[in-house]
Parts: sequence; C-alpha cells; structure tokens
Amino acid sequence: MNVMLIGGGGREHVIAKYIARNHKVENLYALPGNGGIAKYASCVKISAEDIDEIVTFASDNNIDFAIVAPDDPLALGAVDRLEACGVKCFGPSQNAAIIESSKIFARELMTKYNIPQPKYKIFTKIDEALSYVATSDCPIVIKADGLAKGKGVTVAENFKQAREAIMSCMKDKTFGKSGERILIEECLRGPEVTVLAFTDGKTLIPMISSMDHKRAYDGNKGPNTGGMGVVAPNFYYSDEIADECMNKIFLPTMNAMNAEGRKFKGCLYFGLMLTKDGPKVIEYNCRFGDPEAEAVLPLLDGDLFEIMLAVRDEKLDSIDVKFKNAASCCVVCASNGYPGHYLTGYEINFGDAEKIPGVEIFHAGTKLENGKFYSAGGRVLAVNAVADDLASAREKAYEAVKLINFDGMRYRTDIGAK
Ligand code: AMP
Ligand code: GLY
Repeated sequence: MNVMLIGGGGREHVIAKYIARNHKVENLYALPGNGGIAKYASCVKISAEDIDEIVTFASDNNIDFAIVAPDDPLALGAVDRLEACGVKCFGPSQNAAIIESSKIFARELMTKYNIPQPKYKIFTKIDEALSYVATSDCPIVIKADGLAKGKGVTVAENFKQAREAIMSCMKDKTFGKSGERILIEECLRGPEVTVLAFTDGKTLIPMISSMDHKRAYDGNKGPNTGGMGVVAPNFYYSDEIADECMNKIFLPTMNAMNAEGRKFKGCLYFGLMLTKDGPKVIEYNCRFGDPEAEAVLPLLDGDLFEIMLAVRDEKLDSIDVKFKNAASCCVVCASNGYPGHYLTGYEINFGDAEKIPGVEIFHAGTKLENGKFYSAGGRVLAVNAVADDLASAREKAYEAVKLINFDGMRYRTDIGAK
C-alpha cells in the first residue's frame, strides 16, 4: 500500500516508526515529516494545513491510506476531501473533529448528554464577560472557543489575569476568529489524566492512561506548553476510575456523537480531571496527544497499522488491542525560551542515548542536513523510555536525556516525580 502520514512532530515520528513495521506499508510518505521521520518515510515539503496540495499529492502518488494526525488539517476537513477522492483515512471527518475545534460545541454536547464537566458560561460580548468575572471567584478559567495552537486557555488566579485573557481573545483578537466566542469555566481541582481511545463509532477501546506535564517549568510552574513530558500509565487512574470513565464519559461521548450525526472515527482524546466529585472532562481532542502518543504507543502490544485499518473500516471489534504490562516516561527536550521566543538551527548530539535498552528518541522539531540533525522547533525531541515500572522508566529516560545536547536545550527534571 502507498501510505501518507500528515504532520511533522514527535507524534508523527512514533506513528511512522510503528506503522513502517507492517509489511502492507510499501511506500510511506510524510507531509511534511521531519528529520527523524525521514528514516521511515519520504518527507515531502507540503504543509499539514495545505489541504489542496495534500489532495493533489495523494492522487498523483496513488495513495491508498492516509493518517491525518494533527488537529488543524482535521478541522479543515482533510479526511472528507481525501475520502471523497477514494483515499481511506485514519482520523475523523470535519463534522466530528469539531469536538476539538469548538470547545463550545464540546461543552454543549456534554450538557445535552449529561457527561460530567465543570460549570461554564458562553460569552460573545466583552462587557458581559468582564462583569461576569468581576463577580466570580478566582481561580477561573478563560478559553477561546476555537483552535489556538494550545495557547487559548488561561487559568486566571485573579481578576486582573482574567480580564487580560478576555481582552486578549475578544479585543486584541490574539487567536483571530477562534477567540470571538469564549468560555468561562469553573476551575476544577485534582490530578489530570489523559486517556486516548481508538474508536470506529461502534467500538471504543481506551489505551493505557497517561499524564501530560503541560507547564514549562519544574513544579508545574510557568506558562502552558504543548506538553513537556508524559508518564504512562497514570498512577492516579485506578481500575475503578477507569470503569467509571468508560460508563459515564467514554461510551456516552461516542454515542452522543453518533446521535448528533457526527460519527467519530480515529483517536479520541479525553483530557480528564479526577475531582472529589468524580472524573470530569476538561477537554476533548480529535487526535493522538503530543507528547502522549510518544509514551503510550511504545506500550502497545500489537500492530498499530492493523488497528488503524480496522478503525477506518469500522471493524475495530475484530481486533484484540493489548498493552504491555510496563511503564513509559517521556521527557521533552525543548529550545530555551519555548513556549515563547526561541532560536533554532543548533546541531544535536545524541551521544549513546539510543543505545540504552528501552529508550527511543522521537523527533518533535528537527531537520536533517548532510547527515546531521539540527533543532528546528520549540519542542525538539521527545525521549521515551519503557521499563517494568515507572521508577526505572524515569531513571532510563533521564539517563538518556543527559547524554543528549544542543545549544539552549532545556527540559523539566520532574517528569513522573510524584
Ligand atoms: P486545554 O487546552 O483545554 O487542555 O487546557 C489546558 C490546561 O488548562 C489543562 O490541561 C488544565 O490543566 C487547565 N484547565 C483547562 N480547563 C480547566 C478547568 N475547567 N479547570 C481547571 N483547569 C483547567
Ligand atoms: N499534549 C496535549 C495535546 O496534545 O493536546
């Protein structure tokens, strides 16, 4: 089969590596890919957001199957366009991707179908939003409705921060159309859990749970990022909580999407908070998390490509999806300054990091030039280690990270430290 993978981060690197193992994958292309993905796929300089070019490339190259991994092309309808040309896809159609691309849609869906979530209000006018926060308790959460490259959420500790977040969305239009409508939410407390699930709209199979570390600095301080590290499984997520989530959140969400005529096929991401009143939904994403995928997929005990084919053909019930009885710890090596301004183009030295058993290095933002790798993004590498237990996985991941260097490299030292 000719297979095309859309995207170019650490998540796409882990997907490329694992699907390339399946003998059905004869030719693998990545659009645009990155330095690390180039080992498994032919990287093509087409942006993941350029749907016209992606569709043209697919027809020119007789692509049989496409994996659309990032949120933007899913929200832009890449799957609908490709399927219309006869290319089978792993990923939701545009009308199902809305579960991520409109946070207001997601909240209203949860209200309609009684799925546990924080209290919220929707605002379209600045003065109404401002007077609401003026009389509310802090912390309070301000969210732009639409996609905002992971930067549209502010957990405001006081009125001043809440006001700034509202003005940034609605007056300064920092996120463009995405911030025209906003949500103001009750701030929940408790451990956060990510659960990724394969679903074909009929069957839903949760993957092993994980915990992202979103803040930039140790001790969960500093600004939110795309994710600075992950552990899997998540030590707060007991079997009992998993059952509760399956019954009150996961299956009701799949059924709700079907009832709305928005059948979701692909990877559905549940961002949960385990509150004292039970698990509640912080957010849905319509794709694998990044860096969650780099920690979770190495624990999959099976063939990722076969699962993806089964999801597309709505035959997920015929596949036995299993996970290893092991743990992952994934540490992101970022460019100094990320998530703000940072410099790139520095040569990366890997030392013998990848020789450590269980360690895999996924490239999040790198480029390959004359056989050498250079930093090319805010998040540069996702270094994952798999071991029998979390403590050993952590030890190995940090052992590997300490062997790697590039100018300005920065990482959190407390990923998975309880
Ligand atoms: P999101 O982009 O929706 O995942 O939000 C980014 C982060 O903001 C989440 O991972 C949470 O840590 C935090 N957050 C979002 N919504 C809430 C909420 N209602 N209560 C507490 N924290 C939240
Ligand atoms: N790591 C969070 C996300 O992928 O949205």
